[in-house]
Amino acid sequence: MRISEYKIEEVRNSANIVDVISEFVQLRKRGRNYIGLCPFHKEKTPSFTVSEDKQIYHCFGCHNGGNVFKFLMEYKKISFVEAVQELAEQLGIHLEVEEFASEKQSEQEILYDINTEVANYYYNNLTNELEAEYARSYFENRKIKIQTVRAFGLGYALNSRDSLVKFLISKNIDLDKALQLGLIGKSADGRVYDKLSGRIIFPILSPNGRVVAFAGRTLIEKPDSAKYINSPESLIYVKGRILYGLSHSKDEIRKSDKAILVEGYMDLISLYQNGIKNVVAVSGTALTDEQAQLLSRYTKNVVLLFDADTAGINASLRSIEILLKQDFDIKIATLPAGEDPDSFVNKFGKEEFKEVIKRANNFLEYQTEYYEKQGAFNDPQKYTEAIRELVKPVALIDDELKRTALIKNISKKFNLREKLLEKELETAIKQKSRYDEKPSQTKPSEETIETLFQQKTKRKISTVYFNKEAELIKFLFEGNEAIIKLIFNNIDPESLEVEIHKNIFYKVRDDYEHFNELSPAHLISLFDDETQEYLRKITLEQYTISEYWKETHPTVSFEVTSYQFVKDLIIKLKQMQIDVQMNENLKIIESSENEELIMSLMKTNRELSLKKLNIQLIEEIKIN
Ligand code: CTP
Ligand code: MN
Repeated sequence: MRISEYKIEEVRNSANIVDVISEFVQLRKRGRNYIGLCPFHKEKTPSFTVSEDKQIYHCFGCHNGGNVFKFLMEYKKISFVEAVQELAEQLGIHLEVEEFASEKQSEQEILYDINTEVANYYYNNLTNELEAEYARSYFENRKIKIQTVRAFGLGYALNSRDSLVKFLISKNIDLDKALQLGLIGKSADGRVYDKLSGRIIFPILSPNGRVVAFAGRTLIEKPDSAKYINSPESLIYVKGRILYGLSHSKDEIRKSDKAILVEGYMDLISLYQNGIKNVVAVSGTALTDEQAQLLSRYTKNVVLLFDADTAGINASLRSIEILLKQDFDIKIATLPAGEDPDSFVNKFGKEEFKEVIKRANNFLEYQTEYYEKQGAFNDPQKYTEAIRELVKPVALIDDELKRTALIKNISKKFNLREKLLEKELETAIKQKSRYDEKPSQTKPSEETIETLFQQKTKRKISTVYFNKEAELIKFLFEGNEAIIKLIFNNIDPESLEVEIHKNIFYKVRDDYEHFNELSPAHLISLFDDETQEYLRKITLEQYTISEYWKETHPTVSFEVTSYQFVKDLIIKLKQMQIDVQMNENLKIIESSENEELIMSLMKTNRELSLKKLNIQLIEEIKIN
């Protein structure tokens, strides 16, 4: 069964594409549009564009684009129906149940649902079960408040062989799926058993808050059992793509434009409880490229706050490279020996913690200090080697100014030989470019719109003329009724030279006459893929007011006078169309021997030039 067109429209009209995409991509305003780093291909400078007025997005790099549904389908790899359903749910729009009752729930949806049920089960254990008294007092001892338990959905797995199994059976949940999710295990004799029994539970959420996995911490640390057991990877959980706590902290990270990166679940939770909310945790693994990319949607500034032990230092050093490759600004904060963020904030409080963050060094100072402490600069043998190691990460930075500033800074601060630093840096950069994999970014094809469609025009036309037509077409997608009427009243589609423009014009006019629907997102969806891409391109391009307009109206702002602008545009277009005709006549006049024909064409041209001077526009007339 299908969801009705009417409902689909309702959902699309109620959603704001900027809000929806902002959940996944860090957007900032540029001109009338929003831009950000494209989530569909790797890039360092934003070519991903979102238009609030048109409710569409387009990436000028990889050409992915469409309306809000398309974004969700592409981003979450879900079907159209699922995208509509998900948005409807968020917006509180009720879709008739029977409308998709028969729609098969996707495999992933089923797994999410199981995890949600199980998370509730663990949470209820913790809050209600007698056996959980010990777990409750454990949290209490660790200063975790009940509100925090609730906010993070913390739980407890009963200490038994099969209480979860029984729960799953009582809920009719497919045990094979629970096995896939690593909630239960199967022993050699074929019996299934609870995997995390007797542990406190941390649900692990996707950036938009769905339960993708669990971590269980033992209550009593024993040398023969793991302190934490994490769900295995599954269809819905890829470890290297999740940052613990991100669904809670992403808004604060975007707002403060900074993220604090910690190691552990408890670190994150304690900081969050103490009002430090721009935190994410890598939770036990080395930071991955994908995690860095995920984070870069919200900010490019990160403070690493890893434990002060060797493992922590090594983790910091490894993370630096990954983050530098993605253009992050990295600082490193350090805690007194023996403390982790959780213990520190509980002992010294929020303000002291903020001081720690304030004192954070840039990564290069941190690394240099590390080498200094090891005595590398006092030993002539180690000196060059240390410098070589130091400049390696610097070579990963694209911005030359940034590189130079960093080098100068540490040379001064640590009294290092600047010339040697520069020389080693140069070598490192050369080496890097030699070994660099080919950039995965497909460069936006410079092939312009005209070359794409020039072939499909009636006559050979000038770029200037092409752009005029394109500009006119653009205004059909501005959602401004007065302007659209003005265009319909004054432009005969047959007069358009460019085939694709003509087709677009007809279709928009038809649709307008039948449905009176002007929303750009709707209009664009009427076309085939190639045309849609073209439309997104021309309608989302940063507005380039035509040279003509700039020259003649140097002081007037575009927004206020777009109606007037379109009037001028139409007149200009008509004049140019007349010019084309006159030129063709002129060619014949010059080459023909036929007196009669010549005379008649000259007469036509005189009339045309008169017509050209007297173009009158029809305004404010209804379309039938
Ligand atoms: N970790 C893990 N598996 C382990 C040990 C650790 O996944 N066997 C991850 C967890 O995400 C943990 C992080 O590494 O939070 C840091 O480990 P550790 O410092 O040992 O634990 P804490 O987070 O400090 O946990 P707690 O404060 O409860 O001791
Ligand atoms: Mn800890």
